[in-house]
Amino acid sequence: MNTIAIDGPAGAGKSTIAKLVAEKLNFIYVDTGAMYRAMALYFIRQGIAGDDEEGVSAACKDIAVSLEYENGQQQVLLNGENVNGLIRTEQVSMMTSDTSKYVAVRAKLLDLQRNLAKTKDVIMDGRDIGTCVLPDADLKIYLTASASERARRRYLEQKERGVECDIARIEQDIIARDEQDMNREISPLRQAEDAVYLDSSDMSIEEVAAEIVRLFEQR
Ligand code: DC
Repeated sequence: MNTIAIDGPAGAGKSTIAKLVAEKLNFIYVDTGAMYRAMALYFIRQGIAGDDEEGVSAACKDIAVSLEYENGQQQVLLNGENVNGLIRTEQVSMMTSDTSKYVAVRAKLLDLQRNLAKTKDVIMDGRDIGTCVLPDADLKIYLTASASERARRRYLEQKERGVECDIARIEQDIIARDEQDMNREISPLRQAEDAVYLDSSDMSIEEVAAEIVRLFEQR
């Protein structure tokens, strides 16, 4: 099976680009952030605090996360409920960053992610795909952009969804999340040694996708 790993900070354009590359190469796109988000939604619903590692870890046994594809679009199921429309709020984003640092949460999703890559050609995005989930991926990309550009993109995305938001606040949240994701003990966000570094600040989505396809084809 062919595998492409894309890692990078929040808002770098990983999911948009990975979807496009998946279409071009006829791969399945796997958004691992959505799986961590589904778990975070469960903790929020149960009233468990993000800094309560014991509570979060104990709740993990009550959670089943699975994926389905509808017209090629990934749907994430939390205990059988499609929660795709509920996991993109800033509250869930922050809770996800808070709880994805715990070993029990990561252990829960690791096998699921690895198994997906065993049976299908996948392009998988996240924080630790090249370093931990798929260390033997055929191509690894570390995709980033400046914090202000990432905030601008998130802002436009939220606006399009009809969500009113403040761009300065989004940038603060993004920086806080990067800080937490890069400095945690288990599977922190970092560039794998053999990953290609791409800064998308001044590149269009199409340009980045074309570059990844080119890198894959010439590897
Ligand atoms: O990619 P995203 O913004 O949907 O990810 C949400 C959070 O999930 C992110 O702040 C860190 C965590 N995450 C992770 O720890 N490992 C992954 N492979 C994907 C996401």
